[in-house]
Amino acid sequence: MLGAGGVGLAAALTACSGYGQPAAEETTSAEPAPSSAPETASGSGSGDSAANALAKTGDIPEGGGKVFKAEKVVVTQPTAGEFKCFSSVCTHQGCDVDAVEGGTINCPCHGSKFSIADGSVTDGPAKKPLPEKTIKVDGESITLA
Ligand code: FES
Repeated sequence: MLGAGGVGLAAALTACSGYGQPAAEETTSAEPAPSSAPETASGSGSGDSAANALAKTGDIPEGGGKVFKAEKVVVTQPTAGEFKCFSSVCTHQGCDVDAVEGGTINCPCHGSKFSIADGSVTDGPAKKPLPEKTIKVDGESITLA
């Protein structure tokens, strides 16, 4: 005797409880849209070092250096793999040094020369060394700290 009846399907389809109701949607839709215009190179950039890269290590000749007029600095590589950075403002009367030649950073105004290794005066009339600036060398990129 095979019992044909009583396959109780009914109970299986009870509650459709799974309506995906977004429980708590954010009610404020007005975003405070941050001003998206980035300040252009105001000197005090923080964070993203790649964006602020001053130079590539390959740009700086070994035993020499390069003047960065816009940033008013000069970056030197006195010995292979060692990078230094100094103010490019001559300590004599404030001209911008404009060349790195012969192992010195040279001022065009009155001929002062400064060491690429430490900014010290190697030839007057300047008496004070070029102030050193802090840089970071990250891989190939040199950034002002
Ligand atoms: S200002 Fe540089 S040598 Fe005079």
